[in-house]
Amino acid sequence: MGSLSLEMDFEPLPMTPRSLAMTPRSLARRRLFPNGENKKQKVAPPGAGPRKNLELEVMEPGLKNDGPSLDTILVNYLDTLKQRVNYHLGYPVNICYDHYATLAPLLQFHLNNCGDPFLQNTVDFHSKDFEVAVLDWFAQLWEIEKDQYWGYVTNGGTEGNLHGILLGRELLPDGILYASKDSHYSVFKAARMYRMDSETINTSVNGEMDYSDLRAKLLQNKDKPAIINVTIGTTFKGAIDDVDVILETLKDCGYSQDRFYIHCDAALCGLMTPFINNMISFKKPIGSVTISGHKFLGCPMPCGVQITRKSYINNLSTNVEYIASVDATISGSRNGLTPIFLWYSLSAKGQIGLQKDVKRCLENAKYLKDRLQKEGISVMLNELSIIVVLERPRDHEFVRRWQLSCVKDMAHVIVMPGITREMLDNFISELVQQRKQ
Ligand SMILES: Cc1ncc(COP(=O)(O)O)c(C=O)c1O
Repeated sequence: MGSLSLEMDFEPLPMTPRSLAMTPRSLARRRLFPNGENKKQKVAPPGAGPRKNLELEVMEPGLKNDGPSLDTILVNYLDTLKQRVNYHLGYPVNICYDHYATLAPLLQFHLNNCGDPFLQNTVDFHSKDFEVAVLDWFAQLWEIEKDQYWGYVTNGGTEGNLHGILLGRELLPDGILYASKDSHYSVFKAARMYRMDSETINTSVNGEMDYSDLRAKLLQNKDKPAIINVTIGTTFKGAIDDVDVILETLKDCGYSQDRFYIHCDAALCGLMTPFINNMISFKKPIGSVTISGHKFLGCPMPCGVQITRKSYINNLSTNVEYIASVDATISGSRNGLTPIFLWYSLSAKGQIGLQKDVKRCLENAKYLKDRLQKEGISVMLNELSIIVVLERPRDHEFVRRWQLSCVKDMAHVIVMPGITREMLDNFISELVQQRKQ
């Protein structure tokens, strides 16, 4: 597994038709992009502070402009990003995708996967063949036969949640949405958008759904079907709701399979749990699963994958004559580049590569937790999680510098595949220093 190469000098390319037609090799020769070799990430010296928003305006070509040129602005911007990537600890983004240079020439084409991935297009500028390959891969991972599933590459985990919950509502129109209070905010956004009745379920200290509260609320609303959002890796604490306990609870409360729908939000952990404990499986009566593609796997653009049962999708599908297709997705135009990035990453890494990433991240998370504990800092790490929750550092500058996400008196570090022990050591020593002050 490699990392972004941060040691190259940036040489701007003039934006001419010739540069747009460049091959990866010529891009690498121009050194605009590194050649994809795995280079060790160079940790920037302390002092690389948070990025300041640029004061920009769109320039008018030909008019006199006293400020820096377009190229200078972009070079400086890129330079800041290259520094700041070493301090990217608080959000779940995998910054390792060495293959972007290989795929860069695709940017010369507008690729749009509008409509259903499985239907023929009237236009050739799409990547639905790559999209279906990616979907097949996930279908196999989550144990559903090719002819039994439907899915698409989304714009991210949020779109997957909006889609999964909409499927639930279309199947069970008077259903109540149940979601734990540690669910991602997009779940409650869906409830508001679709004007659904919802119940917020308590969580235990580690962030996992409180099943006794779920039971009590299911029993209170027994006359209405249940649409349940199950989080496989909560956003802040990385807790995993137990699908099996939830299914058992539904059964105990008298909900038959035609009176509930389960959507699994596995934005971060959907690509981790299959390699440690295969809890996500369509052999169980679940309705849909979603992940974010830019999270554990890594992709320069936000994206995600949504998989559901084929038998459910007709409830959402509409014929659209204009695109000569059927559409059951949330957005209209869909990014045609992201399925290729996902396809390339999955093929280059394979299940073995992913498994290695999972193992390394879990070990690094444990390393961070143990080191913080030794320094007397309160810390929590859920089982099978790479999210280390710690006391919120008091210094706002420190929080901003390390790009930490904070909730109340807690902060967290998400130990993603691109995070090295060197970065963690730097973080720990600065934190200890800051606490002394
Ligand atoms: C559990 C969970 N669900 C959904 C999302 C939203 O994903 P995205 O940012 O890809 O829309 C996140 C993002 O952090 C998440 O943690």
